[in-house]
Amino acid sequence: MNTPETSRHSTHDGEFDARNDTLKIYLNGRIVPKAEALVSVYDSGFMLGDGMWEGMRLYDGVWAFFDEHMDRLFNSCKSVSLDIGMTKKEILGALNETAAANGMTTDVHCRLMITRGPKVKPFQHPGLSRSGPTIVAIVEHSKPATSLVSKGIRLATVPQVRGLPMSQDAKYNSHSKLNCVIACLQAEQAGADEALMLDPHGFVNTTNACNFFIVRRGEVWTSTGDYCMNGVTRQKVIDLCRENGIPVLEKNFSLYEAYGADEAFLTGTFGAQTPVSEIDGKPIGNASGAGTLTLRIRELYAALIKKHVAQCGAT
Ligand SMILES: Cc1ncc(COP(=O)(O)O)c(C=O)c1O
Repeated sequence: MNTPETSRHSTHDGEFDARNDTLKIYLNGRIVPKAEALVSVYDSGFMLGDGMWEGMRLYDGVWAFFDEHMDRLFNSCKSVSLDIGMTKKEILGALNETAAANGMTTDVHCRLMITRGPKVKPFQHPGLSRSGPTIVAIVEHSKPATSLVSKGIRLATVPQVRGLPMSQDAKYNSHSKLNCVIACLQAEQAGADEALMLDPHGFVNTTNACNFFIVRRGEVWTSTGDYCMNGVTRQKVIDLCRENGIPVLEKNFSLYEAYGADEAFLTGTFGAQTPVSEIDGKPIGNASGAGTLTLRIRELYAALIKKHVAQCGAT
């Protein structure tokens, strides 16, 4: 049920939209009413979190940075020998068809999910998934809550850390997000909105659902990228800073530098750039919303989307 927002506060807060109660969902080549969009209890995604997903947004009929999202998805699926069985062009067609079936052109968010598919027995071995992948696209009406820009997100540093690539590489946008879910729970229990996660060496890395940036003395800093999601928005922000003469560094830094930041913000496809108002109870910047550089980067990003949409829409 698409319930109105209450006291919940997160980077994925959106404005209530009753149309999301009656969506049509893409499910294995068919577009079906939400109530009929069901997958098997034997599905590897349900049973083991054995699947990959992408979050994408539709702006004026264009799926923003579709190629970058597909590169990440296909790379992840190849790494875990998950055959999607569709080309990037076919996926684009499926997303467009689903958006059209819902009468959508803009302010739309898609969660595209690919699992290894139903298993013949309820055990772990990937070979038990024998009938091909399960492919689902939930395409929702979605407007990020504007209050986040004025209020910001409160982060708490949590005991749950980002892992080394040889355990479960953080670059997999896998269905299993238990590491991040545990981090989010720990942050909530500490009275914050979301979790700030460290890497195995204690350097500040990322949040449970977004990439993390700080602004210090006119410079924009983010982690080296070694332990976090290779976020499409993260890379766009880095590129925009470079193109616009804003010093940007991918480097190790500690909480000492994060607490003393002039501004901090999160990046992700859903919310673009979301300001951080406090970390572990310590106010960041003016604590009442986005700082000057965060706002400038938000504007540059919005302009980039406009340009990208105009270019893609014209081809
Ligand atoms: C853990 C995590 N960090 C960051 C991101 C943001 O990535 P993007 O900018 O590609 O949406 C995501 C989104 O899937 C994520 O799951």
